[in-house]
Amino acid sequence: MTVHIGAKPGQIAETVLLPGDPYRARWAAETFLDEPALVNEVRGMLGFTGTWKGNPVTIHGTGMGMPSLSIYVNELIRDYGAKTLIRIGSCGGMQDSVAVRDVIIAMTATSLSTPSRGIFKEVNFAPCADWSLLNAAVSAAAAKGTPTHVGGIYSSDVFYDERPDLNEQMTRHGILGVEMEAAELYTLAARHKARALAVLTVSDHLLTGEALPSDQREKSFGDMVEIALEAAFNS
Ligand code: HPA
Repeated sequence: MTVHIGAKPGQIAETVLLPGDPYRARWAAETFLDEPALVNEVRGMLGFTGTWKGNPVTIHGTGMGMPSLSIYVNELIRDYGAKTLIRIGSCGGMQDSVAVRDVIIAMTATSLSTPSRGIFKEVNFAPCADWSLLNAAVSAAAAKGTPTHVGGIYSSDVFYDERPDLNEQMTRHGILGVEMEAAELYTLAARHKARALAVLTVSDHLLTGEALPSDQREKSFGDMVEIALEAAFNS
């Protein structure tokens, strides 16, 4: 047990999928894993461990934003030995070429700041995905025929952003989508020699204002979970 995770030693798999929403962790575990068992519910942050094609997998919520993700990812890696961590989440589209329901696989994550900012000070560290996971995820998405984009994303600290000019600069520089967690996941994985990737579903679009209706979310999110699982075990 750690401060924020109630799982016993051995109850967390080396491969961990990380949705922001704890209820999505439950949905993904019940939909895709065999014999999913609840291993954490401290503060309502649900984690489940089961198997996928015989491979042990944990699906654990992170909450929203990098400070929350940082707590869970630090404990999962340092105390439970997680080695492959894949964020499965939603993002807002930032390019005309990106449509709602498409999948974005994040090669890099730009940020204004992360919980690791204090370490880097004047250095602009470039958080990047693990290449083997990225490569395998791109292959899995191609095999499924899922419309997929690979490139840079923006990990913002705010959902209700009072600085629309920053989003405009991200769009101008080719950033595909905005979310709130990946940059710190990639940074922590780099620090602790783990592998990380973010596979995201475009749930809304900053340029068009379109948003995925809640009843249509499940199918799109399902593709993302399968891509993440295939990537984890084919890399
Ligand atoms: N902004 C930040 N995070 C998000 C968004 C957004 O528009 N959509 C999904 N996650």
